[in-house]
Amino acid sequence: MTFLWAKSTTQVDDTVQRFLAGEDVHWDQMLLPFDIRASIAHARGLVKPGLLTDAQASAMVAALDELAQAHASGAFVLDARFEDGHSAIESVLTERLGEIGKRVHAGRSRNDQVLVALRLYMRDRLDKLVNHLGASASAFLLRAREEEFTPMPGYTHLQQAVPSSAGLWFAAFAEAMIDNAVLAQSTRAWVDSCPLGTAAGYGVPIALDREGVAAELGFARLQVNPMYAQNSRGKHELAVLSVCTQVLLDVRRFAWDVSIFNTAEFGFVTLPDALTTGSSIMPNKRNPDVVELLRAACGRVLGATTEIASVLSLPSGYHRDLQATKGPFLHAVEHTLSALALVPTVVKGLTLRADRMRQAIQQETYATDRAIELARSGLPFREAYRQVAEQLDQLGEHTPEASVKARVSAGACADLRLDELTARLSSICP
Ligand code: ARG
Repeated sequence: MTFLWAKSTTQVDDTVQRFLAGEDVHWDQMLLPFDIRASIAHARGLVKPGLLTDAQASAMVAALDELAQAHASGAFVLDARFEDGHSAIESVLTERLGEIGKRVHAGRSRNDQVLVALRLYMRDRLDKLVNHLGASASAFLLRAREEEFTPMPGYTHLQQAVPSSAGLWFAAFAEAMIDNAVLAQSTRAWVDSCPLGTAAGYGVPIALDREGVAAELGFARLQVNPMYAQNSRGKHELAVLSVCTQVLLDVRRFAWDVSIFNTAEFGFVTLPDALTTGSSIMPNKRNPDVVELLRAACGRVLGATTEIASVLSLPSGYHRDLQATKGPFLHAVEHTLSALALVPTVVKGLTLRADRMRQAIQQETYATDRAIELARSGLPFREAYRQVAEQLDQLGEHTPEASVKARVSAGACADLRLDELTARLSSICP
């Protein structure tokens, strides 16, 4: 291995080097396309302050494009020959372009290089997250429409409370996913600042075209202060993970509901074969493993959040500790996306057992309807409440369908406002 920072006298011990590089090369493989894109913008940006001629910049851009293609096709693999993705880029440029390649690092440091690659990655994955959230919200909305008035017990404390509907259950998750998409978008805007050109954290004695480079990379603004750029490593990661947490908390709750409703005792839903697995010993089993792993996904993000926050106990400026935030971050984001991608499949694949849900509704759960009926005819609610509580066996004639259709308050079973939710969704994911 050769090192960008090696001087004529440098000797590097293999064990030490392996420890320093850690899993970095593995994770940089994921960041390399973004690092290359930023390197292209950086190379072009070196023309204005006179560090590269037009021809040199063009040669560099062409070589970087080639590298991007070779990486995408698998012909170039980032491996232990390199210390990290940043070193690989400079080595490849130097190998291909000789003297010209050695000019790429003027005005930048690996410290801002890794920041900009991560920032581009964050933007890209938040966009993907918004798309996935849109797909999940659509799937929930579709089921809410299909099952708009399908009666289902409503629970508080896992005890039956009032008659409700499957439509209300599905619409709850649709609205959650829409809120999550809004959050992901606003976080995308929050992270949308360009750290490139801040170098090691103190700027450089070159009038870099920072604005031009940021614009070429599509950033909304500069991350102005070079020291803040370094200090924000991990801070931005935590902001993105907090979006992932919000998403997976909802996924976890939905997965919990499904696994309870899928028990023999409830029997409200069944899962398609494709979403269940068998047991190696019990021939009778059909286990909801997919749903259970969806429920577990949040744990990984919470773990990564704790790990990154623990690393961030640092004074100002770059420290190699910061490298340790990369693995948990990328791992957690990729897992969030792959978990979320399965949610529409689960939502579409659920079969509801309307008969079971209807039969499960206990007579006593009409008590609130009855108390409100009395209140509407003039009795103070507290008196109606007490009267009904004393005669729970005399609630009169009620059906789940009528109870559902009578729940007219905005958002409730009779008025789920699905059009309103659909309109909000299309304003975010057109
Ligand atoms: N692999 C390093 C990281 O992820 C890149 C930056 C290295 N900078 C340095 N000064 N050693 O943080």
